[in-house]
Amino acid sequence: MSDTPGDGKKRLWVVEGEGGYVAVAGPQGEWMGFARAAERALVEGAGEGRGMESLAARGMAHEGMRRLGMGGDGAILREGRAPVWPEGVVGSLSHASGRRGHEGWAAAAVGRAGEIKGIGIDLEWVGRVGERLWGKVFNERERAALEALPEGEWRELAAGIGFSAKESFFKLFHPLTGRWAEFHDATVAPREDGRFVLECTAELPGIPGRLEGRWWVPEEGLVLCLLALGA
Ligand SMILES: CC(C)(COP(=O)(O)OP(=O)(O)OC[C@H]1O[C@@H](n2cnc3c(N)ncnc32)[C@H](O)[C@@H]1OP(=O)(O)O)[C@@H](O)C(=O)NCCC(=O)NCCS
Repeated sequence: MSDTPGDGKKRLWVVEGEGGYVAVAGPQGEWMGFARAAERALVEGAGEGRGMESLAARGMAHEGMRRLGMGGDGAILREGRAPVWPEGVVGSLSHASGRRGHEGWAAAAVGRAGEIKGIGIDLEWVGRVGERLWGKVFNERERAALEALPEGEWRELAAGIGFSAKESFFKLFHPLTGRWAEFHDATVAPREDGRFVLECTAELPGIPGRLEGRWWVPEEGLVLCLLALGA
């Protein structure tokens, strides 16, 4: 695993996974122009903000594919809400709108289908996952663990990681299984060393009940979670 946060001119944050995948993230504005024509057609009518965010995430996914030497000119389309990837590519997208003096960010994770079975990436502003949301997102075990932490930065971040890890898990398992899991079916245990463990009790064929993922803070107040499942 080589982490290369910050990539010279374009403020691109990059992680190259050993298992044949790349994750990239950065401010949205620099990446919208890299989207394909078919992708621009796809977001027409989506509303200025949301459409542009989708294009930025796609622009980054193309950069990730370029780094893996794959993807060519293929566009990332949609079926329902889920992304449809060019032949041979497994991937995931996320975007977080700008807020309180922070630019919006986007992220993409892409892998080679022969090496990666599923992948999920998610960006969240940490402050969004305040205590009023804990009952909806976290099960009893998770709430007890969060409540046992002293109030402060790590507790807030741990809640952000817990939520973002579940969203990235959904992006990994849903395209593979077509199944649904409730937030309370998954238990996330964030660790301060940049990793988390996610355990899920829902019936998800082909998905292990326990996965280990990674998290980063690529920009103040923003958390990025990543889960990859080898083929
Ligand atoms: C789908 C969902 C995960 C998207 O997350 P979000 O924080 O709203 O938005 P993000 O910007 O991070 O991600 C948006 C991207 O998710 C992707 N996405 C949407 N549905 C998806 C699906 N079924 N499978 C995989 N990816 C999906 C799309 O690529 C989308 O980007 P696009 O609209 O530009 O194409 C979220 O809206 C949702 O439905 N969550 C509830 C499901 C869940 O988490 N259950 C608990 C599991 S333990």
